[in-house]
Formats: sequence, structure tokens, C-alpha cells
Amino acid sequence: MRAAAILLAAGTGERLGGEVPKALIDLAGRSLLDRAVSAVAAAAGISGYVVAAPPGREDEIGAAASGDRFLAVVTGGDTRQASVALALEALPGAFDAVVCHDVARALASPALFDRVLEALSGADGVVPVLPVVDTVKRVEGSRVVETVPRESLGLAQTPQAFRRAALEDAHRRARDEGFQGTDDAALLERASRRVVTVPGEPSNLKITEPADLVRAEAVLRDG
Ligand code: CTP
Ligand code: MG
Repeated sequence: MRAAAILLAAGTGERLGGEVPKALIDLAGRSLLDRAVSAVAAAAGISGYVVAAPPGREDEIGAAASGDRFLAVVTGGDTRQASVALALEALPGAFDAVVCHDVARALASPALFDRVLEALSGADGVVPVLPVVDTVKRVEGSRVVETVPRESLGLAQTPQAFRRAALEDAHRRARDEGFQGTDDAALLERASRRVVTVPGEPSNLKITEPADLVRAEAVLRDG
């Protein structure tokens, strides 16, 4: 398969409280976007990438995302899901596999991109997951309703790999049915597609709050 990445950088980073879009925030000397682009460039299986930028920031984001495999910058949508749909429309027809990746996960390794792509041979979608180590309670108000067996749970990360036709179909369905998912795999699951897991990376944390930047710096420093 010929694979391209969609780099999701169209969020504003409200919880980080930044004046600049989150993708352009500095993490130990390089922006989150620059780090994500480097991972994609070093992944053997990815031959192009499209970047979704916040409205009005396309030039800035496009310049920061330039590289050998750069295809296009698109204006993102109101939600992450809308940004993916818009980026898919800009993807040249030659690509039949797509890896969706949140630039907020700037520490994902090139090997993780290749791992999700390899597992795509037996599935429509592939999600990296980490095991849940805490005991999980289902709660209503302040009352515990039950304990959910953690063996059956996984914490989902990006990059997530998909067969392009399945991803496009799932996004069309979700849009038509007014469904909003928090990741792309959720849309395929709803469409009864086969989604499988591969081991995620503990260091591939999602940078959401200012404290996450401190944690990410520690990962870069100490491994
Ligand atoms: N994203 C996007 N388009 C949107 C919203 C989010 O491309 N309309 C991207 C973000 O750029 C990020 C990823 O989706 O890489 C995950 O979103 P999140 O961590 O929530 O980032 P932000 O939306 O930027 O942060 P916040 O919610 O704090 O504003
Ligand atoms: Mg957000």
C-alpha cells in the first residue's frame, strides 16, 4: 500500500493557554509540528503528508511543516473530526492508506508509524494502545456502579493507520449521522470495520495542559 500521513495541527491549544497555535509551541528547542514532521519523514512506510492548520495560520503552519514528503496544507475545521475530513479531500488519489496523527503527540517515534502500517495488512484500522494499570470504576454522580475489568481496556494513541476507502466511508457515515468521535478509529468501529491494536509507546504522551510540556521535556531528557 502507498501511505500518507494527515498531521492534525488545526487546534488552537486553548488548554495550553498559548497565544500561538499549539503546533508551533516550543518543546526543548523545536516546535511540536517540527517534531511530528521529523517522525513522519523518518518512517519508512510514509511517502507524503498533509497538514491541517487553524484558519488564518495556513502559511505559518505550511512553512513550519515543509520537507521532502510535504504534500499540502489545508484549513482545518471546527472539530478534529472535521479537520481529518478536510485533509482527506486534499489527499492525492495515489494514496490508499492513511495515518492520522495528532501533532499534540509530538513524541511518537518513526517506528510507531511503521508498526501501525504493518498491522494494516490484516485490518481496516490500527490503533496503538497502552494497557490500563489503574482499577477502573464506572461512576454515576458520586456513586460507584461497577468495576470495569481493565484487562479488556486500552488507552488509545495516535498515529492510527487506516485503509483509505474505509476511513473515507466511516467519515461520511459519521457526518451523515451527526456522530462526533474523539478519534478516527471510533468512526470505523461504528461502521463495523475491523480495527486492531498494536502496542503504543509510554513516551508518546498527549500534550494538553502546561504540565504535559514539562513531562515531555523530562521524556526527552531522560528517555
Ligand atoms: N485538532 C485539529 N482540528 C481541530 C481541533 C483539534 O486538527 N478543530 C488537532 C489538534 O491540533 C491536536 C489534535 O487534534 O493535534 C488533538 O486535539 P487537542 O489535543 O484537543 O488540541 P487543541 O484542540 O489544539 O487543544 P485545546 O482543546 O486545548 O484547544
Ligand atoms: Mg481540542
